[in-house]
Amino acid sequence: MNKILEELSKFGVVPVVVLNDAKDAKPLAKALCEGGLPCAEVTFRTAAAEESIRIMTTEYPDMLIGAGTVLTIENVDRAINAGAKFIVSPGFDPEIVDYCLKKDIPVLPGTVTPSEVAQGVKRGLKVLKFFPAAQYGGVSTIKAIASAYVDVKFMPTGGVNAKNLKEYLSCDKIFACGGSWMVKADLIEAGEFDKITEMTKEAVALVKEIR
Ligand code: 3PG
Repeated sequence: MNKILEELSKFGVVPVVVLNDAKDAKPLAKALCEGGLPCAEVTFRTAAAEESIRIMTTEYPDMLIGAGTVLTIENVDRAINAGAKFIVSPGFDPEIVDYCLKKDIPVLPGTVTPSEVAQGVKRGLKVLKFFPAAQYGGVSTIKAIASAYVDVKFMPTGGVNAKNLKEYLSCDKIFACGGSWMVKADLIEAGEFDKITEMTKEAVALVKEIR
């Protein structure tokens, strides 16, 4: 497996972040690092995403920062130029996947059906996002799909939280989980970075119980 993805897998949890204001990027990065989780998927759902990635990777160069909700090739370039180390998409967009593969950029495209997983397998991908996980059957669906596609692992995202994290991570087909519960936009906007650190520590402790 690619080194960046291997590193990501070790964290067990990848905080999925929506930043409305790039001024929050630095305190958020600090809060995650202090919580023991120096990684994040910064989603391209806001205009602040690119600058936030730049700030986080400059101020905390040891953090593993990727870009999420990447829907265009242009955003792949913007994210990578800003310092992102991996690309995540909600769906399987062959154009984005092929572009990333050509440029040797670790990419985690979203899948939920065997047909989408097959597209990833055909391209040699070993890790795929499973999104939205809860709505598409969670661990039980992942196990069923993984029984046919034995060399693939999944990053479930969507509905993962402190209550079900251990259930997800107990499945050996799960690479890591994506989740926003410890970095909710309202916590960020209220400047509740101590709370984010506390919830991040709790998430890390749950990962340690399983891995
Ligand atoms: C994602 O962007 O992948 C999801 O919206 C995160 O889902 P969650 O908010 O349920 O963790």
